[in-house]
Amino acid sequence: MDEDTPRTDGGTERADGEPSEDVALDPWGSASVGDYADLFAEFGIEAFDDVADDVVDPHYLMRRGVIFGHREYDAVAEAMANDEPFAALSGFMPTGDPHIGHKLVFDELIWHQRRGGDVFGLIADLEAHSARGMSWDEIDEHARSYLLSLLALGFDPEAGELYRQSDNREVQDLGFELGSKANFSEFEAIYGFDGETNISHMQSVVTQTADILYPQLVDEPKPTVIPVGPDQDPHVRLTRDLATRLRYFKVTEAFASFELDDAERTLVRAAYDALAGDGSDDDGEAVNRDADDVRCEDAAEWLADYEPPAVDAEEVDLEAAKASALDKLRAGGKEPLRPRVRFFDRNATDEAFEALIGAVQGEKRVFEGHVDAFEMTREAAESLAREVEIDHDGFGFRQPSSIYHRFMTGLTGGKMSSSIPASHISLLDDPEDGYDKVRSATTGGRDTAEEQRELGGEADECPVYELYAYLLAGDDDGLATEVYSECVNGERLCGGCKEQAAELMREFLAEHQEKREEAEEVLEGLDIDLDSDRRGTGGEH
Ligand code: TRP
Ligand code: SF4
Repeated sequence: MDEDTPRTDGGTERADGEPSEDVALDPWGSASVGDYADLFAEFGIEAFDDVADDVVDPHYLMRRGVIFGHREYDAVAEAMANDEPFAALSGFMPTGDPHIGHKLVFDELIWHQRRGGDVFGLIADLEAHSARGMSWDEIDEHARSYLLSLLALGFDPEAGELYRQSDNREVQDLGFELGSKANFSEFEAIYGFDGETNISHMQSVVTQTADILYPQLVDEPKPTVIPVGPDQDPHVRLTRDLATRLRYFKVTEAFASFELDDAERTLVRAAYDALAGDGSDDDGEAVNRDADDVRCEDAAEWLADYEPPAVDAEEVDLEAAKASALDKLRAGGKEPLRPRVRFFDRNATDEAFEALIGAVQGEKRVFEGHVDAFEMTREAAESLAREVEIDHDGFGFRQPSSIYHRFMTGLTGGKMSSSIPASHISLLDDPEDGYDKVRSATTGGRDTAEEQRELGGEADECPVYELYAYLLAGDDDGLATEVYSECVNGERLCGGCKEQAAELMREFLAEHQEKREEAEEVLEGLDIDLDSDRRGTGGEH
């Protein structure tokens, strides 16, 4: 890579490809990640780069690698590109003042809203009370402040929805339902909960899974993105699981009447495609077969000679899969393979299963616990399954998607933490204090100006450069690139660079605070109660 281009991988690339120290994602622990690349290998978060091309006119946080990872964001990008319904939701624990880290998420929500999404912002007051022991008065005050900043930055409350967890009865009910599909052992494994964990804290987790699915309850199931820091990924993963566990039917592709696992199915598909495909075998000899005539034993014969790669993309042992697939195919004998889609009854009521059977189009075969459809595409089958589920009091949820942003480095080096005021900038900081904090920030600069001119600064290690990239340069890629390349080329010295950043910060804060004042009136007009009359002292203090 060219030395003076900002890293678009957001620093996620590791030379050795090995995970560094142990990585843990703890929603209530310290929000720092040693190496973002580890999150891909350890937790299956995907690199944002892989989906970036699908996003039309991406946000600057996407362009600059600040948003580094995702789960299934392709579904949202596709809906956005095709003008189909999609949603975005994020939540904020009202434990302190909103700061420039929250601004990243506010901006992400607003961007999705401007792209036509249904956008939700919520105050995680139940979580703040149960997991952090915040009093209701404190919560009210902070909640107001978060909402003012969100509105000041451009959230449109008419087009979107703002709520607090404690006030949203639908979320509570959905949480109750979702909780019936989760158990304590799982919470223990995911969150490290134990016998000392207070029950309301657990309830707040269930509430969060309900938050995440709530946009799909309003109106209809749709692709939904949850923009958060990677510490929230455990909640996203759990919610994706629970969404699936609630589904009435599972739809798979299938061959013949027996079950195949994914790896076996890949091999059987290869056999089927080879035999039914273009009507000729490897030697170009005509294979006179109607696709419906390909039998299990034919596929067994083909597969016996086939040498699959040792493992597939998911590292599944294909040799073992070959052996087991061969057993099944041989046992199948003359039964035609006939590709089909299969609907398994996962949670459906009897009536729903009957209704599904009735609604399957074309030729079908009904078995105990599943039904096979021979003339439906997988896609058509998925939407039918969802439709029948929704018609029979099910939710029909899609798995939610997520995008993850990098945490900002503290201005004093180390992590940005609200307990160290000089390390971070609150959106409520006096503009002059904001100016001063940036002026006193640690940099990626060299010891002397001479060295800096000779070697260039280390923009990738510099909290001030981060301020430009994450916030101060805004949509202006020219400015971000200029700072970066001038820095690494030794044309920029830290004094002047910080002065420029400090002035921009002062300007930003002054303007933001003015807009917060204007937002007061808008907030008053909204249907959100910021003077709760709740009692009690909450959990861990
Ligand atoms: N747990 C989140 C936090 O610590 C807040 C939150 C609650 C949230 N519900 C959510 C975040 C739903 C994203 C989506 O800040
Ligand atoms: Fe950081 Fe600017 Fe100094 Fe480069 S010149 S190290 S970006 S403060």
